[in-house]
Amino acid sequence: MMIGLLLRGWKQISSKSFCSLNHKPLHVCVVGSGPAGFYTAEKMLKAQERAQVDILDRLPTPFGLVRSGVAPDHPETKIVINQFSRVASSERCSFFGNVSLGSDVNLPELRDIYDVVVVAYGAETDRSLGVPGEDLMGIHSAREFVWWYNGHPDYHNMTPDLKSTDTAVVLGQGNVALDVARILLRSTSELQKTDIAEHALVSLHESTIRKVYLVGRRGPAQMACTAKELREILGVKDLQVHINEPDLVISPAEEEELKSSRIHRRVYDLLCKSATSHQQRDLVAQRELNFKFFRKPHRFLPSEDPLRVGGVCLEKTCLKENGLSGKQVAVGTGEFEELSCGLVLKSIGYKSLPVHGLPFDDYKGVVPNVKGRVLSRDQEEQANLEKGLYVVGWLKRGPTGIIGTNLYCAEETVASILEDLNNGLIAAASTSPKPGRKQLLQILESKNVKYVTFSGWEKIDAKEKFEGQLRNKPREKLTTWDELLKVAHHER
Ligand SMILES: Cc1cc2nc3c(=O)[nH]c(=O)nc-3n(C[C@H](O)[C@H](O)[C@H](O)COP(=O)(O)OP(=O)(O)OC[C@H]3O[C@@H](n4cnc5c(N)ncnc54)[C@H](O)[C@@H]3O)c2cc1C
Ligand SMILES: NC(=O)c1ccc[n+]([C@@H]2O[C@H](COP(=O)([O-])OP(=O)(O)OC[C@H]3O[C@@H](n4cnc5c(N)ncnc54)[C@H](OP(=O)(O)O)[C@@H]3O)[C@@H](O)[C@H]2O)c1
Repeated sequence: MMIGLLLRGWKQISSKSFCSLNHKPLHVCVVGSGPAGFYTAEKMLKAQERAQVDILDRLPTPFGLVRSGVAPDHPETKIVINQFSRVASSERCSFFGNVSLGSDVNLPELRDIYDVVVVAYGAETDRSLGVPGEDLMGIHSAREFVWWYNGHPDYHNMTPDLKSTDTAVVLGQGNVALDVARILLRSTSELQKTDIAEHALVSLHESTIRKVYLVGRRGPAQMACTAKELREILGVKDLQVHINEPDLVISPAEEEELKSSRIHRRVYDLLCKSATSHQQRDLVAQRELNFKFFRKPHRFLPSEDPLRVGGVCLEKTCLKENGLSGKQVAVGTGEFEELSCGLVLKSIGYKSLPVHGLPFDDYKGVVPNVKGRVLSRDQEEQANLEKGLYVVGWLKRGPTGIIGTNLYCAEETVASILEDLNNGLIAAASTSPKPGRKQLLQILESKNVKYVTFSGWEKIDAKEKFEGQLRNKPREKLTTWDELLKVAHHER
């Protein structure tokens, strides 16, 4: 209600200030070159002939989680990179890699020089469990593990220990949990044909992990993954799957829940099918996947080495309907169980980080917004729309949704930008036009920031593909900052 009034007021004021700067370029800066950033750039360029879009990213490489999140054995998902590359090749679009918001440039600087700033820098940290022992060695977030096997330059030194144990526990049952479990369980003869980072391939080849527990605090009817990804892990070669059949018995309330969610229904049906088919198969399996439902982490247990993890103590849960949301939530029963393991991957969701000058909701880990327009609160807790500042992607909605979800998300944010533009809220109100890219280059030069252009990225791309060809892989990723920058800045 308040926000609706605010928007109406905003439009009334704006229509007065509408004047024509229609022939001047509209300088747009998008921070973050993941799907949300690229879809926003694409839509802005299409919708506004006078838009000039600069895309900034802290990495020397573009494409966000399409490069550093999507699993190496999902090459078809990465094809979207071709579409993003076409956007970057537009003469009205420029990419500036190796430019970090918060250290190389700050938000007030960008807002000073651009008519529109869209923050799209994703979610680069993790939700924490907040249970004792979380700091023990051998416990990693799935994000770290994924960045490691995908060759993210911040994680090439990670060296997860896959050789001192035969058991890993993955906490969480979303698609990321399935990705990391599959990478642990899949044979390296299959992985070696993918773009997995070489250091990860070597380590996985020497891995002694044979058993993976996939632990969910709720039941099979609430599993957070999708059917395609579940089917894929159930189909991993030479894998014995264990599902405790009594866990598959569902209540009438859950039956109702399943009727309203096709995704959950398909996942549940697959689990039921798998429980019976795996029982019938007399498999001499090399590896084992164990689904543990209705268990939430209570604390981590040390091994003989008091600094290393040796197990997880899980509390059994049951489901209770949350009065407010009507959702089935997990509540502890006071009954506990211990699982021994030498590796834990916490896959309970990503979280965005705040940057100076940007309103941020610490609890939800998102930038408060109305349809992508950034919203701040003044000292009297009054809501204000931040002129010319927008948000998109995981930073706007929280860390859920597939690549395509960001397309709709970008459409919404761009529609808000265009509406504000038509209402004279952007650029028109300022007497002196903003300088955009010209000034950005001066700032970067004055701070000695060695930014990477899109053609710098193309050099990295060519080098990686060349190295990949030699190893029969689609690409061999460069995994250190030094190598990436050296290749990007190499004069032909
Ligand atoms: C492990 C994993 C696997 C996934 N697999 C799939 C899949 O197979 N299929 C699918 O459809 N979806 C998949 N997804 C979901 C999909 O990747 C996301 O929906 C999407 O990437 C979110 O887009 P985004 O642009 O908001 O964030 P991101 O893709 O994270 O992009 C954010 C960008 O901002 C940059 N950045 C961060 N901080 C700064 C800063 N301070 N300054 C400048 N730049 C900064 C980052 O380097 C990054 O390039 C996966 C997600 C994860 C985590
Ligand atoms: N192939 C693909 O398409 C693909 C691959 C990877 C990722 N993605 C997408 O990327 C997004 C992020 O995936 P994600 O797996 O990180 O997130 P997610 O789908 O939100 O799953 C998070 C998991 O963590 C659990 N969890 C959260 N907090 C917990 C806590 N405190 N204790 C125990 N468990 C907890 C959740 O259980 P509850 O359900 O009980 O909350 C859920 O099982 C998703 O939209 C996903 O579909 C897609």
